[in-house]
This record gives sequence, C-alpha cells and structure tokens, in this order.
Amino acid sequence: MFASLTAASGQRTGLAVVWSMAVSGCAGSQSALDPAGRAADRIEALFWWMCAGASIVWLAVVGLAIWATKAPPREHSSRGARTLVVGGGVVAPVIVLGGLLGYGLALLPDLLAPAATGGPRIVVTAEQYWWRVRYESATGEHVDVANEIRLPVGRASEIGLESHDVIHSLWIPSLGGKVDAIPGRHNRIVLEPTRTGTFTGLCAEYCGTSHAWMQLSVVVVEDDEYATWLASQAQPAALPDDPIASRGAELFVADGCGACHAVRGTRADGVVGPDLTHVASRLSIGAGRTSRGPEALELWIHDPAELKPGVQMPAFHMLPSADITAIAAYLESLR
Ligand code: CUA
Repeated sequence: MFASLTAASGQRTGLAVVWSMAVSGCAGSQSALDPAGRAADRIEALFWWMCAGASIVWLAVVGLAIWATKAPPREHSSRGARTLVVGGGVVAPVIVLGGLLGYGLALLPDLLAPAATGGPRIVVTAEQYWWRVRYESATGEHVDVANEIRLPVGRASEIGLESHDVIHSLWIPSLGGKVDAIPGRHNRIVLEPTRTGTFTGLCAEYCGTSHAWMQLSVVVVEDDEYATWLASQAQPAALPDDPIASRGAELFVADGCGACHAVRGTRADGVVGPDLTHVASRLSIGAGRTSRGPEALELWIHDPAELKPGVQMPAFHMLPSADITAIAAYLESLR
C-alpha cells in the first residue's frame, strides 16, 4: 500500500512539474499570453477563441475517425455520405472560420485607432541590427535613444515605424501586435500599456545575419517618472570628472568614433550608429546582445562582430588596450 501511495504521489509531482513547465512558458516579459497592454489583451482573447475553434474542429474530426473505425460495417446511403461531406466539409468550416474571421476583423479598427493627441510622439527606425528610437516634441526638437522605448502607463502612445535598409518587423508581444518596418513606407502602431514593468521587443522578420540579436526593451513607468526620464535624456552629455574617462572623451573624438555616433554637447555628431549621449543609462548594448558594463564595452569596441556577426561598426582592435579602456570608461560615465 505504501509503495502504491508513493507511486501515486510521485505521479502527481510529475504532473505538477509538467504542468508548471507548460504554464511558465506562457508568462514573462515577452509573452503574448501574459498581456500588459490593451491591444495585447484583445489579441490574447482572439488567440483563445481560435484555440477553441480549432479544438472543436479537431475533436469533431478525431471523433468521426474513431466512430468510422468502431462502427459496425453497414451499407451507406449516398444521401448520408453527401450530407456528411457537405455538412462536415463545407458548412461546419464556413461557420467556424467565418465566425473567427468576423471576430478578428472586428478587432482591427480599434487596434489601429489613432492615439489621442498629447501623448508622446515616437518614431522607431529599424536598422541593421538595432532600433533607433526618436522622441519628438511638438516644437520639432527630438531626443534620440537606442534599443529602448519608455512609455507612460495607461496612455496610448503612437509609434511610427520606418526602415532604410530591409524589411524588419517590430513585435512587443506583451503590449501589442507586430507591424513591419518597410523602406519607403511609414507604418504605425498604437501601444497602450496597462501595467508598469520591463518588456522585451524583438525583430519578427528575418533581416540578415544578426536578426536574432535585434532586441528592444520597453520600460513602462508612471507618468511623472516618464517625464523625468525624458527630461534627463534631453540633457546634453555631462563632462566626465574621472581622469581616465576624460582621456576617453578626447580619444572618442580623436579616433573617429564621433563620425558615426553622436554625443550631444560634444563635437561627436555622427548619425550612422546609435546616439550615445546617455548610453550608460541603457539596459544593454548591441540591441540586447549583452548587459552593459566596462568589460562588455571594451569587448564591443575591440571587435563588435565577435559579439554580433554582421554588425556595421568596424573593429578597433588596432587601438592600444589602454585607449579602449579609457573610451569604455568615458561611455560608462554617460549616464
Ligand atoms: Cu530586423 Cu530581423
């Protein structure tokens, strides 16, 4: 008896482990089944309705197949066969798929409705392989950030989507649907986060070698925290007080980094690569490739392609390692 009790409890533990593994796959910062936005809520509901529709069709087909193998052999009337083919092959699919299509189409106007004016104006440009995020003010000024979007909770923010090279696709599963960034077109997506947190976005369309390393963090914060963050990002870069970082600031311009990267408030005003004015306030480098820090920055400067194949930034391994350390220290001071 003891043995059978142990076996039963072992079985229950096993089932619990399998169940928790299955369900934990649905949670987290990058799950369409753990919505944190108004559009994602609707899309999750659509997913479950589609699941229900698919389950009904699957159960009916499997039920019929089992019935066909178990039923005693008898002669079929051609009328009965026709009813089955027309009913199961035409009428039932039209009702189920038509219902799901109608439900899905009815969601679209609401998902694409323009956000009320007054919210942040954000343009995300997909690059190979990172995201340029531009916050525009009503007066035409802008603040550039990279691979990170901050959004105020409870407000609809409209995001314009552009690309200059190939087709990319922005998808932040927890917040909404995916929309392509297509060269020559201006697409848009409206995101209305319903809770605060950090969510992961990604490129959902194969765009080249480092397509899989094209992540984006979406940090949803309260209104006042958002305003504080945007104001601090709009500030020019602070001058470093540490002597090594100060030398790094000089090297950054002397070694040509400023030809591609901008650091507002300095002579570096390149527009090819990410704006680095407040790079040390970001969560990662290389569009989610690695977490930030002096060592990671040194590795990146030494040879970016080692971390991210296909990256357009050239390697700077010809620089003395003390210079690379100084430039990394400078970048780490740009909070
Ligand atoms: Cu960009 Cu895939």
